[in-house]
Amino acid sequence: MADLPGGFWSGWIVVLTLVSLAGLSWLTLSVYFSAAADKESKTEPVWDNDLKEGNTAPPMWWFWMLFAALIFSLIYLMLFPGLGSFSGLLNWSQGSRVARSYENYDMNFAEIRAEIAASSLAEIQNDLRLMDTAERIFRRECSACHGPDGRGQAALFPNLMDIDWQWGSTPQQIEQSIRGGRQGNMIAWTAVLSEEGIEQVANYVVQMGQPVSESHAGKAAYDQNCTACHGVDGEGNPMLGGPRLADDIWLYGGDIETVRETLTSGRVGVMPRFRDRLDDMQIKLLVALLAR
Ligand code: HEC
Ligand code: HEC
Repeated sequence: MADLPGGFWSGWIVVLTLVSLAGLSWLTLSVYFSAAADKESKTEPVWDNDLKEGNTAPPMWWFWMLFAALIFSLIYLMLFPGLGSFSGLLNWSQGSRVARSYENYDMNFAEIRAEIAASSLAEIQNDLRLMDTAERIFRRECSACHGPDGRGQAALFPNLMDIDWQWGSTPQQIEQSIRGGRQGNMIAWTAVLSEEGIEQVANYVVQMGQPVSESHAGKAAYDQNCTACHGVDGEGNPMLGGPRLADDIWLYGGDIETVRETLTSGRVGVMPRFRDRLDDMQIKLLVALLAR
């Protein structure tokens, strides 16, 4: 929270506030009790026999209401921050309230949180209440990208509920994905392969997983350029985030146009890191949720 203004501006705010309040009090009093209130002017015009401009004060309950509001303002400004840098007699601040509730939270839950963070995945997975919590965390932190049910979105954010894991499916690898984030990087291949070369490799990639002829025109280029990250048979490489190509599960799409587009423009998928945003227990719960 920004600090309260100090020095000159603080004084300025105090003066302005008090002068305004005094001015308002004066205005209210003068409207109700000035001698002019009932004075009638003989020179004022009269319309429709008896309609003339007057100067009658509003009803008395209005006066008391305004008066009460003024008194309330003064008491409020004495108790709470509002007059420049004066922090109020109660020493209240939004920041201190938040800090206090965090302290309470830590005091009440630190132990149980540490316990959960240290328990085994199976224990967590068997506890329906913990899994509910995990789902809530997922919906709050992850669903914007991975979809409310974790099934991916828009051919940009991977499905986390399938058997295909770009960065590995062990609890350690999943935890690493969440904690440290991931960046999958594949260059565009236009500089290395000709347009025809790209066409042939794309055609080869689309057919991977089915029996493909050894003499397929794209195979040589694949073997030369792609195996390091995608494996000899397109099985993928979780160390480098190279997705498996020899199945029907695709990050961006497995039809020939999309694969051509992938190879022509390259792909960069960024999974943000969550280690500063979530604590050990929350990450553990998410791993338990995803590693089922
Ligand atoms: C340096 C490692 C690397 C090399 C070499 C590489 N790729 Fe990739 N490839 C990746 C990564 C990483 C991704 C995932 C990009 C992402 O996460 O956004 C990817 C994604 C893809 C995809 C998209 C898969 C999907 O599910 O939509 C295709 C298709 C692909 N690569 C084909 C190839 C072909 C063909 C070659 C060889 C010409 C090749 N890659 C070479 C690392 C590599
Ligand atoms: C800003 C969007 C975004 C958010 C938010 C996000 N992710 Fe991701 N996540 C991605 C992208 C994009 C990838 C794919 C990275 C790549 O292409 O290499 C990914 C990949 C992953 C992977 C690796 C998947 C694999 O196949 O190996 C896991 C696990 C994961 N996310 C879990 C989570 C969890 C849990 C959360 C919530 C705490 C989360 N993500 C929040 C965008 C996001």
